[in-house]
Amino acid sequence: MTSFTSIYTLLPRALPAVSFSLAASRRLHTLPQLDYPYNALEPHISGQIMELHHKKHHQAYVNGLNAAEESYAKAPSPKEQIKLQPALKFNGGGHINHSLFWKNLAPQSQGGGQLGPGPLKDALVADFGSVDAFKKKMNSVTAAIQGSGWGWLGYNPDTKKLEIVTTANQDPLLSHVPIIGIDIWEHAFYLQYHNVKADYLTAIWNVINFKEAERRYIEAAKQ
Ligand SMILES: [Fe+2]
Repeated sequence: MTSFTSIYTLLPRALPAVSFSLAASRRLHTLPQLDYPYNALEPHISGQIMELHHKKHHQAYVNGLNAAEESYAKAPSPKEQIKLQPALKFNGGGHINHSLFWKNLAPQSQGGGQLGPGPLKDALVADFGSVDAFKKKMNSVTAAIQGSGWGWLGYNPDTKKLEIVTTANQDPLLSHVPIIGIDIWEHAFYLQYHNVKADYLTAIWNVINFKEAERRYIEAAKQ
């Protein structure tokens, strides 16, 4: 009885302080910096694509997410909050997906495209037969996405296997832990590869950061 009374007594004073603190501490999302110069992935992905993709497209998702969150915080009713959910999903997914994407690319001088012996290679061979068979399947599944979206190598926490999955638009990958994501929106390749998605998908493996992919895989497999 004593402890119930003391907690209850504290609540009216504690609640306004918590609300104020949460409102004051809402932090804006920001564009992450790349770990390499825009032209460092050439000739596989041009510097022009990388600069526009990062500075313009990703920045637009960041701005859209901040605006949607601000509107959500001010929304006067659940109905008004529900109206904002598509904008939160689209811009939030765009921010999450692109933040993953920059990290899963690396210049060849920093190890891009190189998959050495280790747990990721072993798992790819176990789940797909060979690394080449995995790349071929991932490319065909990603190329078959209708419209804009993402191809993913994901870790399925239920089956404990690596699987290839896709998401539409900017939907983030929720069913699996993302290990490698490939952006198949036209803004990711059109300036260099025009309508030939297959050439972009072949080239990107030369700059995939397998060290980062392996780090994500080891982390996911621990859970
Ligand atoms: Fe993109």
